[in-house]
Amino acid sequence: MSEKPIILAELEQAQQKALALLAEIQDEEPLQAWKREYLGKASTVMSAFSSIGGQPKEFRPLVGQVANQVKQALEAALEQRARIVTEAALTRKIADERVDVTLPGRQPISGGLHPQTLVLRRIFAIFAEMGFQVYRSRDVESDEYNFELLNIPAHHPARDMWDTFHIDQPGVVLRTHTSPGQIRVMREQAPNPIRVILPGMCYRYEQISSRSEIQFNQVEVLAVGKNITFGDMKGTLNGFVRRLFNADVRTRLRPSYFPFTEPSAEMDVECFVCGGKGCSVCKGSGWLEIMGCGIVHPTVLKNGGYDPEVYSGFAAGMGPERISMLLHKIEDIRYFWGNDARFLEQF
Ligand code: DAH
Repeated sequence: MSEKPIILAELEQAQQKALALLAEIQDEEPLQAWKREYLGKASTVMSAFSSIGGQPKEFRPLVGQVANQVKQALEAALEQRARIVTEAALTRKIADERVDVTLPGRQPISGGLHPQTLVLRRIFAIFAEMGFQVYRSRDVESDEYNFELLNIPAHHPARDMWDTFHIDQPGVVLRTHTSPGQIRVMREQAPNPIRVILPGMCYRYEQISSRSEIQFNQVEVLAVGKNITFGDMKGTLNGFVRRLFNADVRTRLRPSYFPFTEPSAEMDVECFVCGGKGCSVCKGSGWLEIMGCGIVHPTVLKNGGYDPEVYSGFAAGMGPERISMLLHKIEDIRYFWGNDARFLEQF
């Protein structure tokens, strides 16, 4: 009779060792490593199976039997341990993710109104108090309305005042100013009296700089009726400027030129930064230019359907971005439409 094969003792040792180690395992990863070590191809159990053929004949069944028992014992233990490990992981996860209801809530990010919406609303409110309604005209205009009907014929040098976006279709432009809306309201309302403001985006094919953008808002003012005078214009615009800036601000009208008004003027307000002494904001002049204005040109009235012998009117045009820049001491007009939250959230 041959000696008892050494593999039998090895199997017993391996089982003991494996079970002892398994009992210590807490995590999935070491569990897998354990499985490779004690049930994998190179494990004692597996090599016991492959050793059977080389064992003395009378021990072969025994080796097979013992190897099977060990294998089953290890597999059963592994299964049990795996359940414990999974449960422990779940318990840990629940504990870690427990909601602490006493923590302060997360502050939601709240949006705000755009600075231009805010100034426009102020402008609308002030004019509303004086009986002016808001009239919205179109952004895409015809050459006829943007220029011709406003007394700016083709090839007239005054067209140089507005660098224009043209499109492939002849006679179609992006409005360079809100003034074409004047004709549209007049044609709609004639011969009724008009008091409107026309706000909206304007577009110019211009070199972009800290003072000019290719798109910007304008607010046009138009009053048409009988006996409307330059004095009415001055009173209305002064009333507006004083409500917008402050009640004591001084204004002045400087003669100017626009093809659609005669006479034409620029309205300046006393620089509210230096009080008129001269500073960097007003470039030493003590005055800030705020809008163009004038008495509606007879040709424009006629184009709008009003008899210039019977009716008269005044008009004005201002840039609310420029007004914002003055109100908030903003140095660059490009901030308004640059979509930088760091700028926008300051309002
Ligand atoms: N449309 C002019 C511009 O964009 C601004 C303007 C000036 C409008 C005088 C007016 C006005 O109504 O009377 O430069």
